[in-house]
Amino acid sequence: MEPRLFGSFVEHMGRTVYSGVFEPGHPLADADGLRTDVLELTRELGVTLVRYPGGNFVSNYRWEDGVGPVEDRPARLDLAWRSLEDNSFGLNEFMAWAAKAGVEPMMALNLGTRGVAEALELVEYANYPGGTRLSELRRSHGVDKPHDVRLWCLGNELDGPWQMGHKTAGEYGRLAAETARALKRFDPNLSLVACGSSNSGMATFGSWEAEVLEATYDMVDYISLHAYYDPSDGDADSFLASAADMDHMIKSIAATADHVGAKLRSRKKIKLSFDEWNVWYQSRFKGESSLEWAAHPRLIEDVYDVTDAVVVGSLLITLLRNADRVGVACQAQLANVIAPIMTEPGGPAWRQTIFHPFALTARYARGEVLRVEPDSPLIETAKYGEVPAIWATATHDPETGEITLFAVNRDRHGALPLEIALPGDMRVAEHLELADDDPSARNTAADPERVVPRQGTGAALDGRRATLTLPPVSWTIVRFA
Ligand code: AHR
Repeated sequence: MEPRLFGSFVEHMGRTVYSGVFEPGHPLADADGLRTDVLELTRELGVTLVRYPGGNFVSNYRWEDGVGPVEDRPARLDLAWRSLEDNSFGLNEFMAWAAKAGVEPMMALNLGTRGVAEALELVEYANYPGGTRLSELRRSHGVDKPHDVRLWCLGNELDGPWQMGHKTAGEYGRLAAETARALKRFDPNLSLVACGSSNSGMATFGSWEAEVLEATYDMVDYISLHAYYDPSDGDADSFLASAADMDHMIKSIAATADHVGAKLRSRKKIKLSFDEWNVWYQSRFKGESSLEWAAHPRLIEDVYDVTDAVVVGSLLITLLRNADRVGVACQAQLANVIAPIMTEPGGPAWRQTIFHPFALTARYARGEVLRVEPDSPLIETAKYGEVPAIWATATHDPETGEITLFAVNRDRHGALPLEIALPGDMRVAEHLELADDDPSARNTAADPERVVPRQGTGAALDGRRATLTLPPVSWTIVRFA
């Protein structure tokens, strides 16, 4: 399993950056203006990798605006989110934040309104040690050592007509291929992500990936997937089964990539980068055109409940179950914007419900993922047909011998028993669950600990057989040592 599965996303959007991770003048800001409360929560969340600076934002972004003396940086219009961007936070601030958070940076390039030359310039500025115009420019900005960013996205969601510089698959494939060719000439060890579809509902889903990969196969390492699940229509059974869709997407795009590999007679396997995923009450968002120009407005600050956290837990289970193919995954986003961490400007930071399954999975999913196929009753859903009520995975850490089980019960009407055959005599080291008599319970600034993981009860061991009960609409973790 790749540590890169526990990624997150910091976009210049709403309050992810400004008053999220960065707020000079906040009582808890450090000398760089970074909120230390958010840094601490990011470390607790267990995030390993963070994608930056967008998202839709990147497709009209000039990276040069965000480097050098802050007083010289231009204010710009961010067309993606109709926001005013003062550029007081840019590449070097992000890299300083990433080092303090202990995360690997994943940088996105603007292949919407820009092209090969600007991508190469950014990579030279970021990664070349010194002695050239752009590497010396970085050094003159106070960053002596290169950032050495290893992972680069070749644009963002360029199949989407909302994207600045939107392209056809043919146009994008060619640009991505030429950008990748140039970047690999600069450094053959860079890892590159080609854009897949913006979501599985796009008319070109599948054919976009095939055409893009035919153009880029030898030069890229990953193809991206994005998926957001929306609870707003009130179909709770389908929403709880969202992981069935994510699983299907992963299998479909892996098959598409392998089909292209077969056609090209290539033995190379393209990996998947699920670099945007989450629950998003998307139908509440009235669209970019409805926004008034403003500096870091409150955008899509969804407040998550217990059911949302169970779905997030099930999406993490799905990523683990596909860890042989998914090499990178980023929950979107980190702070305030559809995020596990919420903040108030000048005020506190707190954990949303969805924080907890992420943090516990990132902390305890270690070593290798075991193939787990539970026998489970089925639930009929309007969107995905029959799905198993229990969705689960387990990891085995060869260093400690620990086995960790992650399971959800998607049944809203009753608890379900779970019986586990263990490979040897083990004890229950920890048993936690996220569930509540009120599945719509949320955490807020006024009551930030309303929903926290609670001690699971009723786990019993009989030789190599463990039994436990999964409450209705619940996410459970059990560590066997
Ligand atoms: O995460 C919010 C937005 O969702 C991103 O900017 C975009 O890539 C996606 O459509």
